[in-house]
Amino acid sequence: MWDYSEKVMDHYRNPRNVGTIDDADIIGEAGSLACGDSLKLFIKLDGDKIIDAKFQTFGCGSAVAASSILTEMIIGKTLEEVKKITNKDIANELGGLPAQKMHCSVMGREALEDALKNYYGEDSEEWQELDLLSEEHSHDHAGEKIICTCFNVTENQIWEAIKVNGLTTVEEVTNYTKAGGACGRCKGVIKDIIDTYLKKNKAEEKVELTPTQKILKIGKVLEQQISPQLQKDGGDIELVDIVGDVVKVKLIGVCSACKNASMTLKNFVEAELKEKVDNKIVVENVG
Ligand code: FES
Repeated sequence: MWDYSEKVMDHYRNPRNVGTIDDADIIGEAGSLACGDSLKLFIKLDGDKIIDAKFQTFGCGSAVAASSILTEMIIGKTLEEVKKITNKDIANELGGLPAQKMHCSVMGREALEDALKNYYGEDSEEWQELDLLSEEHSHDHAGEKIICTCFNVTENQIWEAIKVNGLTTVEEVTNYTKAGGACGRCKGVIKDIIDTYLKKNKAEEKVELTPTQKILKIGKVLEQQISPQLQKDGGDIELVDIVGDVVKVKLIGVCSACKNASMTLKNFVEAELKEKVDNKIVVENVG
């Protein structure tokens, strides 16, 4: 028996928001019945805000719990806010998932991603902006290639799971994506993908910024990439101080009074700085 958190058990026994929405504005799907797990996510919008979400899932208890918590995480939020939710956030919100069940959180993230893709359109600027199809996901534009035919898992999905969760072994990839969990024929290719990712990461780590370069880059990312996004919603951000890896900022305008301010800081501001400058950065609100 896996070791489940109380929250997982609660959401498994009393799943929230089960069902469908007849006039849903967006529907996202992930997994497939053939692979043993599938999730269909229904979203109702009021403008840019998610006012209702429901799900149907076929899968284990963890799949039910992950889908259930995901609906709670997105209701009341804007599309802008939910786009940064990762599978890690879903698992964390559940108080953790056993390693062998992490693929359920990945399925939640993928259904959300599919919903956003359907809403914006795959070729739209917004979709590109979401950074869901970052250069890294499709590092050689071969990312949609199916690597594990038993579970229909693509190269992109494996790459994303490695990147978001810091996976380093084939076994971990199987836990997170199911790839490699049946006939095992794809394990060699999975190992190659892991090695490529690690090599790429190492090469990037070598180009360490000097402290001054880092401060300049943080300022530039805040000014040119983060601030314009916040301004679109009537808010903004001000850099107060940088102490080591801690970036102290002040949210201004509507952002300062927003009840989701801490989520914006962590899931948007901090995530952007981590990705674009240094993975060790922590953002603190001193407003
Ligand atoms: S091809 Fe991946 S387990 Fe069979």
